Parts: sequence; structure tokens; C-alpha cells
Amino acid sequence: IQPTSLFERLGGTEALERVIGTFYDYVSEHPDLSPLFPEELTETKRKQVQFMTQFTGGQPLYTAEHGHPRLRARHLPFEITPRRAEAWLVCMKLAIEDHDLPQKASEEWFHRLTLTASHMVNQH
Ligand code: HEM
Repeated sequence: IQPTSLFERLGGTEALERVIGTFYDYVSEHPDLSPLFPEELTETKRKQVQFMTQFTGGQPLYTAEHGHPRLRARHLPFEITPRRAEAWLVCMKLAIEDHDLPQKASEEWFHRLTLTASHMVNQH
């Protein structure tokens, strides 16, 4: 029997698109984060949905289009302090909470995001 992926338990593409849309609304209003991001976030959102799909065990959409994520390397051009990593996680937590996803799946996703976010810190 195939275990159900985190992607499916969260609600699939539709759920990820909703959460990520809200996430970038919070990011664009956050004083510590908004200066790092482009004004126009359509492409950023599209890539993040692709990435989160594969991160949660769905289809490897990000890699199919952009190659290996190399996330830490791709974030090196941005000054990511512990404070910014914390801010990123707060925006994600609020976005997840706004959409009433299944609790256990949300907790698991968020836990994995905390690990990845701390790995992105490249400036203290
Ligand atoms: C891209 C910031 C954490 C996944 C980006 C970009 C910025 C950024 C500024 C470029 C956006 C653009 O030009 O479109 C941050 C900050 C973080 C953080 C401040 C705080 C820790 C994370 C985490 C993940 C992630 C935890 C995944 C779990 C991505 C992906 C991209 C991206 C997939 C697109 C890369 C590409 O251009 O192909 N991030 N990020 N980021 N970030 Fe983050």
C-alpha cells in the first residue's frame, strides 16, 4: 500500500496555491522581508507552488523546470538573518492558519519548513 503523501493530506495543488498566495501577501507587507522580494510576485508564487509540491511529496515540478533546488545556494544572494528566517516562518504560519488545513498535516509541513528556514540563514 502506498502511504498518502503530505501533499495529498494537505489538500493538493489547490491548498498549496491558497496558502502560498496568502503567504506572499504577508511577506509583501512585512518590513523585514518585503525589501528582498520583487514587487511583482506572480512568478515567485508560481515557483514556490512548484517547489512546495515536490517538497511535500507531490510531483517534482520545480526540478522539472529549474533543475535541482540547491535552495541554500539560490538564497545566498539574499542576506538571510535569523530574524528574517523567523519572519518568514511567522508569515507561513499565519498563512497556513488562515486556510484551515488538516491539523496534523499542517504541523508536519510547518515543522519541516522550520528546519529548511534555519538552513537558509547565511548572515548572523
Ligand atoms: C526564492 C527569501 C526561506 C524556497 C526566494 C527569494 C527570496 C527568498 C528573496 C527570491 C524571490 C524571487 O526573486 O522571486 C527567503 C527568506 C527566507 C526563505 C528571507 C527565510 C528563511 C525559504 C524556505 C524555502 C524557500 C524555507 C523552502 C522551504 C524558495 C524557493 C525560491 C525562493 C523555491 C525560488 C528559487 C528560484 O528562483 O528558483 N526566497 N526565503 N525559501 N525561496 Fe526563499
